Formats: sequence, structure tokens, C-alpha cells
Amino acid sequence: MAIVSAEKFIQAARKNGYAVGGFNTNNLEWTQAILRAAEAKKAPVLIQTSMGAGKYMGGYKTVCNLIHDLHDYMGITVPVAIHLDHGDYEAAKEVIEVGYTSLMFDGSYLPVDENLEKTKKIVELAHAKGMSVEAEVGSIGGEEDGIVGEGELAPIADAVEMVKTGIDFLAAGIGNIHGPYPDNWKGLHLEHLKKLGEAVDQAAGRKFPIVLHGGSGIPDDQVKEAIQYGVAKVNVNTEAQLAFHQATREFVLSNEDLKGKNYDPRKFLKPGVDAVQGAVEERIDVFGSTNKAS
Ligand code: 13P
Repeated sequence: MAIVSAEKFIQAARKNGYAVGGFNTNNLEWTQAILRAAEAKKAPVLIQTSMGAGKYMGGYKTVCNLIHDLHDYMGITVPVAIHLDHGDYEAAKEVIEVGYTSLMFDGSYLPVDENLEKTKKIVELAHAKGMSVEAEVGSIGGEEDGIVGEGELAPIADAVEMVKTGIDFLAAGIGNIHGPYPDNWKGLHLEHLKKLGEAVDQAAGRKFPIVLHGGSGIPDDQVKEAIQYGVAKVNVNTEAQLAFHQATREFVLSNEDLKGKNYDPRKFLKPGVDAVQGAVEERIDVFGSTNKAS
């Protein structure tokens, strides 16, 4: 397989009742861990960067080249999309130029008309290059790269209008939050998702894929129910970060990091990176995309 647009494999997921993971990367090692997990599980996958991660990693072109080269070097056989997560208008245009294969334009903080108008323009530019496009209505709770959302429910009428712009998949707020869920979190609004799913399917004239952001820490049964109602892409970032942090911390606290040549970054980072791979593999199983790479 190759580096591809996510449109076909997410549409296949929607049609067949499972979801594909959109996993955020932060560096070389995380990218390798996600690729290893996807290959081990024979699952299609999106490797995504927020705008902040793109900057941290040396720019979108660096990210794009890195994923392409790792994909070849590691002999990856599963479909992989290189995706921009929560991009603003400028970032969306930039990744179209440098060769990402998928992007999210997040205009959810704009007035609805402006969000729709800008999304339409991005769809036109991205589709001309064979890229898939995700857009958002109704903001998602928590903070992502400085964009703070209240986590309100996406208005169904706005979701329908957004689908008409020609996007390939829709991120919609249904009570989900980026980052860890607070103890008093009420859970996903699955009834709202069900209604929203039916409305967008009708508007699109087919089963339309919905994206669930804030995938870390949502109980498995809620994720699985959300998939039944139209979710076909689930974003996961915090869970991998927590796994990395915990494994690294345990390694340091056990003083293993001081033994032998464990100060070598290749050894020092290994427990954390392995934990990222484990977290990604676990999520792929929950989403049902294991062995769906063909
Ligand atoms: P979490 O960090 O909560 O997993 O959310 C990730 C996400 O939705 C990225 O867009």
C-alpha cells in the first residue's frame, strides 16, 4: 500500500460499521510507533499533526517527508493517510501544497456562514489534489493548540449544511472533550449523535462518516455505540501521551535509566515509545479496524 487519501478507507469503515484511528504524532519515535502498531494490526490509519506538532517537528514538509520515508523504510503495507488535525485556513492551504493526503479545516470558532464558505474553498483546493477533507461544526470541549471549545452539541442544521460543502467526513461536538475527561463528565450525547447521523446520511444520500474527537478515555461501550450511529474516525492523542509519560516515569523511578547505557536516547525513550505503540494497538482493536487494511 501507499500513502493515500483517507476518503476511501473511512468510507469503507462507515459502510461496514467500524472506525479508523486518527493518531496524533509528536516526533520521529511516535510516528514509528503508530506505523508499527498499524502494521501489526493490519489496520488503515491516519497519522495526524496538530499545527503545534507540525511546528515542533520542523514544519509540515518535514512531517510529510518523514512519514513517506518511514513508510518506505519500514516496509509498511497498510494504507496510511497524512492528516492535518484542527488546521486553520492558512495551515490547510499549506498542507495542500506540501503533500499531506488529508486535512481537517477547523473553522468551528468562526461564524457558521464563514466556516461554511471557507470549508467550501478548502474542499475545492484539496479535492483537486485528491486529498480528503474533514470539517467541524459545534465546538469540542477542552483545548487544542490554544483553540478552546465549550463542548456544545453540534446543531443538526449546521451539520447538514456542512455536509453539502462536499467534505468527506464531519467532526461534530456531541459532548466530547479533548484531553482527560473530568470525573463529573456526563458521557457522550448518543441520542443527539443518532439524530445527527440520520440527518447527514439523508443530506449526503449515503452513509456519511462522522469523526469523534477527544477519543482518549471514552469508555469502550460508548465508542462502540457511537460507531453504530455513524462515527468512522476516532481521534486519539492524550491516551498515547499518558502511556508515554507513565512508562517513562516508571523507567526513571526504577533507576533502570541509570543502568548500563540507558542514557542513550534510543534506550531511554524505548519504554515510552513501546507504550505508545501498545496504546495505539489497543484502540485499533476497540475501533474494530484490525485486519481491515485491504
Ligand atoms: P484526545 O487528546 O482527547 O485523545 O483528543 C485527540 C483529538 O481529538 C485530536 O483532534
